[in-house]
Parts: sequence; structure tokens; C-alpha cells
Amino acid sequence: MKILLKGALTLNAEGSSFVRANVAVENGKIALVGDGAGFEADEVISLDNCLLMPAFVNAHTHLPMTLFRGAADDMPLLTWLETRIWPMEDKLSAKDALIAARLACAEMIRSGVSAFNDMYFFTDTFIEAVCESGLRGALCRAITSGDGDFRVDEAIALYDRWHGAENGRIAISFGPHAEYTCSKETLLRTRDEANKRDALLHIHCSESQEEHAQCIERHAKTPVAWFEELGLLSERTLLAHCVQVTDDDIALIAARGANVLHNPQSNLKLGSGIAPVPKMLKAGVNVALGTDGAASNNNLDMFEEMRLAATLHKGFMRDPVAVPADTALKMASANGAKALRMGCKAIAESEAADLVAISLEHPHMNPVNDALKNVVYSAGMGDVAMNMTDGKVLYYKGEYKTLDIEKIKFEANEIAKRVCV
Ligand code: NI
Repeated sequence: MKILLKGALTLNAEGSSFVRANVAVENGKIALVGDGAGFEADEVISLDNCLLMPAFVNAHTHLPMTLFRGAADDMPLLTWLETRIWPMEDKLSAKDALIAARLACAEMIRSGVSAFNDMYFFTDTFIEAVCESGLRGALCRAITSGDGDFRVDEAIALYDRWHGAENGRIAISFGPHAEYTCSKETLLRTRDEANKRDALLHIHCSESQEEHAQCIERHAKTPVAWFEELGLLSERTLLAHCVQVTDDDIALIAARGANVLHNPQSNLKLGSGIAPVPKMLKAGVNVALGTDGAASNNNLDMFEEMRLAATLHKGFMRDPVAVPADTALKMASANGAKALRMGCKAIAESEAADLVAISLEHPHMNPVNDALKNVVYSAGMGDVAMNMTDGKVLYYKGEYKTLDIEKIKFEANEIAKRVCV
């Protein structure tokens, strides 16, 4: 299928400004950027009065938690987990998780996300939702120590069954949940299994002060230093949160080339704090953005996350240039693609055709003095006109092409009546 995306203001390859350019797409990749002359398209999609840019990458989320939206709020992290989330999760069936994941995929498609990074359970079942949706995803089965190491075996089985499926849209990573839920032995075995397969390793790290302090008590080391001692840090490592990290931790993360997944909204809502992102960026760390699960956000809207990343650190540091707009946009897209090793890093030939068109139709997007600033500081998920993932249109002007949204909403509400009580 050859598609020409025509008439948009398109983000340049450097990600610094929007210029008038058509984009030709073939076999899931960007074939051409320019006027498109000579490209014999099977389909031309008119994107007049739209901005075209790499789709967002939601670098840390838990898809089925959409079911818990609004059902557990205004509590500290550990109380939130122990009194609300874990009891609700106990009632969750694999089928429930599948429907909740469909809802998450619909929400991400609607908000311009093409690729995401998930950690949860029932992955082997709800991964069907990702296949149907047309999205790209890195997924892992959360590994905790509990009754032995059988979770690692489950993760291996998941990898063997799904890694590389759907024409490479599905990647399976290894997800030891966190320092406080995994023994040393579990972490070491998970590391070895991930290394053997050159797979991503996704872990929660220094999210709350309590967790960070408990780790120091247990190991006389911060979580980052503990992971370093166990050989867990590499360019394949995805560290979610890193709110409490020290300067030494940041230096270690930078030295190993590990990636930080920043979730500003979830960290604020759970009262966890503010990650020292400007310091990480200065140290050269690849920082990507994620929404975290919908129970702690309470949506999967990357526009909100990007705007928060761009404004939060300015206010906190009393520095209006702490995270500039173009940096925030890269954190929401290219940096995530780099961390997950999937998706579109720039609008350039042979990059993945994971693209989002943003409408300039509404008052809040005008005038267009600087389109990039409008995207970061003015736009919202309601402005998404098109979501193309892997060269396929998943959403265009109000219409979902792969999912039955009314059915999904109905079923999710029915399940919530049973589970979220
Ligand atoms: Ni999380």
C-alpha cells in the first residue's frame, strides 16, 4: 500500500520546526519527504490545515489499569496499592484485562500514540488487543519473587510466543517489577535471560521516598547503585520514574546509557515528587515520557504529559529554560522510540511510518506563530486528526479504523461495576 500524506505542515528531520512538505509512505516506512512528485500513491490523504509529526511514544504504562480510572485516588503509593489496586486486581480475569487493554489502545490511538511500553500481568491474553488495534508495543509480564522464580519462566514463554509478532510490531521485554518486589536471585536470573535474547529490561526505580529509603536500609545502596552492582544497567534498560535519584545515580545511568521513563503526572498525583529531569538531560541521559497506568494519571494523554514535562521543571527549578519545548516534544516521541527501539524517531526516509496529524482548526491552535510551540503548549488530544502506525491509518477524523469503540466502552463499564467496588 502506497499512501501520500498531502498538504500538512511537517516537522523537519531535526525536530526543530514545521515546514510545508508531503510525506510518502510505503510498506510501513516513510519513502519520501518533499513534494511527492513521481510517487504513484494508491491513496492520497489530505491533511490541509494540519501539522504532521512523529507519533507519540508512551514509554511507561500499564494498559489494563484503564479499568481503575477514578476508582482509587488521593492516597499515598503504598496505601493506594495495598488497599485499592491489589484487591481490585485480585478480582480481574484475563478477559477483563483484554477489554481494559482495548480501551487503553483506543485512548492511545485517539491521543496520537503509536508505540508504548507496558508492564502488567495477563499479558499473554490482552496482547490480542494490541494486535487488533494496529499499535506497536513493547510488553512484559511483571516479574515478582513471591513463591519462587516461575514468573521468569512465564516471561520466557511470553517472549518465545510473541516477540517479533505482527510484522515486528510486538516486542517482548523482561520486567522485574522493582527492587522491593524482586529478590537478588530473581533480578540476576532476569538479567541473564534478557541478555541472552538482547531484550529490553523494564523496571520501576526510585519512585517514592519510602521505596528509595527501604532499599538503602536493605542493601546500603540506592536502587540505581543496587542495579549497577547486579549488572542490570545497560542501553537496553528502561528505568521507570527515577524520582528520588541522587547525582551519583544520574552519573551511573548516563555512564551505562540506560533510559529513564519520566511520568510527571503520576508522580505528582501519588505525591511521589518531581524527578530531577533537567539534571538527567544535562548528564546526557535519554529521558522518555510515559503516562503510567490510568489509575494514577488518570488518562493516557501524552499531550498533557508533554506539557507538564515542559512546564513542571521550569516552575520547580525557577528556570524558564529548564526543559524547552523542542526537548519536551522529543521526550514524548523520538526519545521513547530510541529507548524502545521501535517507532519513528524523525520524519525522514526509511523511518517507521508512525505519524500523527494535529488539526489547526480550533481557536486555541491559532494563530500559528510557531507551530511547535502550539503543539507543546496549546494542543490536546481532541486535536488529533489522524493516527498512522506502521503505515496504516488507525484513526482519521473521528473514526476508529480497527476498534469498535462503542462496544469497548460498554464492556469496560460493565466490568468496572463488578471489579471496582
Ligand atoms: Ni508504573
